[in-house]
Amino acid sequence: MSCSAPADQPVDRPVDGAADRSAVPASAVRRRPWRTAALLLGVLAVLPASALTACDGGVRGTPGGFGVRDPYFPKLGNGGYDVRHYGLTLAYEPGGHRLTGTAVITARATQDLSAFDLDLKGLTVEKVTVDGEAARWNRAGQELTVRPRDEVSAGGTFRTTVRYSGTPVTVTDPDGTEEGWLRTGDGALALGEPTGSMAWFPGNHHPSDKASYEVSVTVPEGLTAVSNGELRSERTAHGRTTFVWRTAEPMASYLATLAVGRFEVSRSVTDDGLPVCTAVDPALAADSRAVLAELPEIVAWEEKTFGPYPFSSTGAIVDRLDGLGYALETQNRPVFPGAPDTGTLVHELAHQWYGDSVTPESWRDMWLNEGFATYAEWLWDEDHGGDPAQRTFDALYDGSWFDADADGGGEQGAEAMWAFPPAKPPGAAQLSDSPVYLRGAMVLHKIRQKVGDEAFLGILRGWAAAHRHGNADTAGFTAYVEKRAPGEDFSGIWRDWLYGDGKPDRP
Ligand code: TRP
Ligand code: ZN
Repeated sequence: MSCSAPADQPVDRPVDGAADRSAVPASAVRRRPWRTAALLLGVLAVLPASALTACDGGVRGTPGGFGVRDPYFPKLGNGGYDVRHYGLTLAYEPGGHRLTGTAVITARATQDLSAFDLDLKGLTVEKVTVDGEAARWNRAGQELTVRPRDEVSAGGTFRTTVRYSGTPVTVTDPDGTEEGWLRTGDGALALGEPTGSMAWFPGNHHPSDKASYEVSVTVPEGLTAVSNGELRSERTAHGRTTFVWRTAEPMASYLATLAVGRFEVSRSVTDDGLPVCTAVDPALAADSRAVLAELPEIVAWEEKTFGPYPFSSTGAIVDRLDGLGYALETQNRPVFPGAPDTGTLVHELAHQWYGDSVTPESWRDMWLNEGFATYAEWLWDEDHGGDPAQRTFDALYDGSWFDADADGGGEQGAEAMWAFPPAKPPGAAQLSDSPVYLRGAMVLHKIRQKVGDEAFLGILRGWAAAHRHGNADTAGFTAYVEKRAPGEDFSGIWRDWLYGDGKPDRP
């Protein structure tokens, strides 16, 4: 290659990505996400200088794109390659809030690449290599652009190593909640929906690119590091303990987590032999015990309802994050910012099928996560002596659900339900609003009304099986339902409930 700039040096001075953090108040609470005040935030900043200018000298490859055209987050993810595996070797010092990392990213090129981007926010990049050769790189906002010494050929597998360090940033969502790297009383917690994972490792941070992971984390002795998948090893030397966690099944990066702190870790297996690992902050252990004891029963009920559990282990992480306001369905073991209740545990575990195994193609398909996980709560209630889903549906339709539920938000809540259709949120700030969750669940109930209970459960199960460990979008879902019930006409449901503005007429 004919580029003359010396390798192993940044092309530009690295830009610290923390600059575009916004001034949105971080107080919105998403325990009931649809109550979150609609904090509008024009986050679509200037498009970054995507890649370096191509060199002369017969180069065939072109730069991969700086995003994958997500309708809400155009800079999220990157074009030109597919990540197969992330190998992260991290060390965290809670005292100084300092993270040191090496990310080894194995990917397959989908085009001839002269350069490609990774997403990374904040932190300082020290060195980048591609297939062992020092590479040039520069940073602009959340884009880390890498130009390998030799271009990468389409179809080829290549390995990028990024050495980095610094104090990771907390990211404020378009909806006002916090994610990314969150400090806790005794350590830290990394949460990634929808864009926070770029705060702790470089990667292709869009849900459409799933990969396996191995995360090695070194922390001061006495602290525990918990991540996704299964614990491979734990070794203490010289006052530090290294935990190695492995996730073999494909995982979207927004579902990756890391919890560092004091934890009571408990391991068991379900009756079916599925490993269960829970990590609970000691201050929350007493309040969590009874609900976590229900976890095996909930997983068993969900397997009966949704089909085989999609991953090789399950569990939960309960940490102290007062004011975070939401739980997250991190793969294998969801995170709860306090002791969960049964409904929330049912919801986050249902996401293991709907969201984690069957992952949205883009953030527009969010209702495929939240509508399903919400409907799982309704079905659980129905099967466990609570309201039948039909009654929940009716109460939502006539608004009485919002009076009955102390968290529901009264008349305002009842109106917010119809603000937009589940399959077309108006912006990134609305992805966690009630139309996505509640009206999304109502779409599923409309399908159930049309096809009957047995066929409906067949659709729920079949959908999870058809896209197991993959990605799917709304058009794929409607086509799937139509294929499963060829005699029925769903066009009114799609038109009025899924895509239509306003409150649909009662049939
Ligand atoms: N997915 C979480 C749940 O189980 C809620 C959530 C957390 C969320 N962060 C988000 C939803 C960002 C939308 C966007 O309900
Ligand atoms: Zn959810």
